[in-house]
Amino acid sequence: MKDSDNLKDYRQVRQLAIRSLFEIVEQSSEGTVIVDKDARIVWMNERYARRYGQPSAKAAVGQEVEKVIPGSLMRQVAQTGEPILLDMLDTPNGPLVVMRLPIHDAVGKVIGAIGFALFDQLTRLAPLVTRFTQIQKELASTRSLLQARQAKYSFSHFIGTSARSLEVKRHARRGASSESPVLLLGETGTGKELLAHAIHSASARAYKPFVSVNCAAIPENLLEAEFFGTAPGAFTGADRKGRSGKLQLAEGGTLFLDEIGDMPLALQSKLLRVLQEKEYEPVGSNQMLRSDIRLIAATSLDLESAVADGRFRADLYYRLNVLPIQVPPLRERLDDLPALCEAILDELLVGDGRGHFELANDALALLASHAWPGNIRELRNVLERAALLSDEPLLNAAALRVAIGRLSPLPAGIMPKLSGDQDFYSARAAFERELIEQSLAAHNGNVVEAAKRLGLGRSTLYKKMVALGISGNE
Ligand SMILES: Nc1ncnc2c1ncn2[C@@H]1O[C@H](COP(=O)(O)OP(=O)(O)O)[C@@H](O)[C@H]1O
Ligand SMILES: [Mg+2]
Repeated sequence: MKDSDNLKDYRQVRQLAIRSLFEIVEQSSEGTVIVDKDARIVWMNERYARRYGQPSAKAAVGQEVEKVIPGSLMRQVAQTGEPILLDMLDTPNGPLVVMRLPIHDAVGKVIGAIGFALFDQLTRLAPLVTRFTQIQKELASTRSLLQARQAKYSFSHFIGTSARSLEVKRHARRGASSESPVLLLGETGTGKELLAHAIHSASARAYKPFVSVNCAAIPENLLEAEFFGTAPGAFTGADRKGRSGKLQLAEGGTLFLDEIGDMPLALQSKLLRVLQEKEYEPVGSNQMLRSDIRLIAATSLDLESAVADGRFRADLYYRLNVLPIQVPPLRERLDDLPALCEAILDELLVGDGRGHFELANDALALLASHAWPGNIRELRNVLERAALLSDEPLLNAAALRVAIGRLSPLPAGIMPKLSGDQDFYSARAAFERELIEQSLAAHNGNVVEAAKRLGLGRSTLYKKMVALGISGNE
């Protein structure tokens, strides 16, 4: 009979293979251990016993396996009957690659388990280990990115119980329960970004990423790649491998476009397409990617006048303007000042145990007389500066006056100059002239800056200046 005849009968081959498999595994094994169904060691080879500091294999017999091999999963295998084909076991002398199999009796009942330590020199597994460490690194960086992509604020962080604030919160909550785009309008520092985070946190997408892009902070030529990502091979150098765009990072979650009024027109068209078609192409690619994002946009510009001036696409504006939320400037909700100050001061702990900062009686009146062009961001800075300069935990008006720097009196401060027999239109012109002149003075005559602060489009402001006979310097 030829040897190959033995290979024709599968049942017989199986028996032969089982035997050689077992022998190979056992012979190449660095250690073998057998436990009963209560995970007590029944047999162990000498080498393995020594590795674990036992005087001999005999000394290990009868002990619970974890006492001899810390971290062993033999008990689990003996109890569940489920094998663990490949695993890594950390030991004081480096990791071992192990295999654990249940042992069945003649009628198929699990009566114990056998474990093999396959390799102690992981060099034989180098390709596998390299891949494993690489995947672990990727996992760690993805985890930290994901953490960075969680929203930082919820609605409870938005302080304010004035009628205006409550209305803003009510609208924003409604935004959170819908999938439509939300458009946050308001001056700088009024809390638009905070609200964007809060809307995401309260939405069905809360556990998906929150990704924000500041359209004013990224150079125009990089914005497209930042948005849509780049395809592998489309560029040389660092980007050769291709890069995920913000759209892809935000997939399933929320994309927050801050300062959307500053988005270049070309990109506006592409964004509109994404919103309509729900798909896009990375730069240099001809493959369409699906996009499922919820959009929240914010701007401190007057979008309507930007549309009128042709700087913002009308169709995109209508698309975004489904749920506009006007966030009022601080000077229009001065009722919230005490609560805001309290919350901000609570965060500024006094280092040397003097407790926490408080406002003196005259302080609030002073704060209420300032127009807060930088809104709550400015309020926070002023309180921080005053606290830093103060020797005591009570902040008075004088200390705050210093911290404010240039005081911008509230427009109300202009009103007394008006006389009762002026007509409405000339009074309004006087008010506008005063406000624009003050704003220009505050920005050294820079019309672009002044327009931003006033929440007007630049050309709207120019038109008003021409009409009122005010000259800027540009
Ligand atoms: N209603 C509020 N309650 C508490 N803090 C606020 C509130 N609005 C804004 N802030 C704080 O003021 C700062 C500016 O807010 P931000 O959301 O960045 O404004 P914007 O995006 O409108 O410029 C942040 O530190 C924010 O936490
Ligand atoms: Mg902002």
